[in-house]
Amino acid sequence: MKGILMAGGTGSRLYPLTLVANKQLQPVYDKPMVYYPLTVLIAGGIREICVIASPDDLPRFRQLLGDGSQWGIHLEYRQQDRPEGIAQAFLIAADFIGTGPITLILGDNLFFGGDALPRALADFKSGATIFAYHVTNPECYGVVEFDAHGRAKSLEEKPDKPRSHFAIPGVYLYDQQVVDIAHALQPSERGELEITEVNLEYLRRNQLCVTRLSRGFAWLDAGSSTSLFEAAAFVQTIEKRQGIKLGCPEEAALRRGFLSLEQFEGLVQNMPSCEYREYLTGISAEIRRHESNEISMPA
Ligand code: G1P
Repeated sequence: MKGILMAGGTGSRLYPLTLVANKQLQPVYDKPMVYYPLTVLIAGGIREICVIASPDDLPRFRQLLGDGSQWGIHLEYRQQDRPEGIAQAFLIAADFIGTGPITLILGDNLFFGGDALPRALADFKSGATIFAYHVTNPECYGVVEFDAHGRAKSLEEKPDKPRSHFAIPGVYLYDQQVVDIAHALQPSERGELEITEVNLEYLRRNQLCVTRLSRGFAWLDAGSSTSLFEAAAFVQTIEKRQGIKLGCPEEAALRRGFLSLEQFEGLVQNMPSCEYREYLTGISAEIRRHESNEISMPA
């Protein structure tokens, strides 16, 4: 499975923050926003990732994320000339996708908790898998309606009168049909190739699986000033209470085995003295402690 991280868009709802750095580069508490979806991909075992952004923003993403080798992954970059929709990603990155399955994640979507996403990635075989999450404001999102058997019945993009409270979060798993499906799309009224149209086509083909994310799972988007602030407050609350960090690509890469402990420690040594470094240093110290306990345990 490869991944696409979609970081395009104008970020107009965050003006004037976005005058000098685009939306996905804004801080969510203690890290750039894009770290969070990137960490979801890494934690899901995805090593080959294509970042899509506007021509103006791409250099800044390259500066922040590099070629990914520091995290044991491979990052490529493609530009979206104009904000013409999420589904355009499959046309822009068609050569990157090749003939295998692909996970698309939006750069302003934050996911925390549970193992629903890594499990869906590990179990994915064909067709499309998307998710549903109960929200108070479904009209702001793609919305899925279920039938009496819990199967997806209808999908609508930002409907005035939503048929359910289940929004579709910005993480989508597709098989290789997605490129042809995207090629056949027509721009919507807002001039975009809609991701909901892609999902509708899989629904028509009877190949759409919609997984409901459970209570307690957290999905936040950080596209407006208020939601950005709320997302930061959420991250700070969890991090402070649990003493863990969310959206930390170094940690996810280590735990996934993309980095050896030695590589991880080398990476940390090059960081300036800061809370982030202290946290990562604590992780390697803990792993070393476990290792030495195991070695000194009598057989
Ligand atoms: C997009 C999709 C929408 C989805 C949302 C998730 O909305 O079009 O279906 O629910 O992302 O964040 P947009 O970013 O255009 O508001």
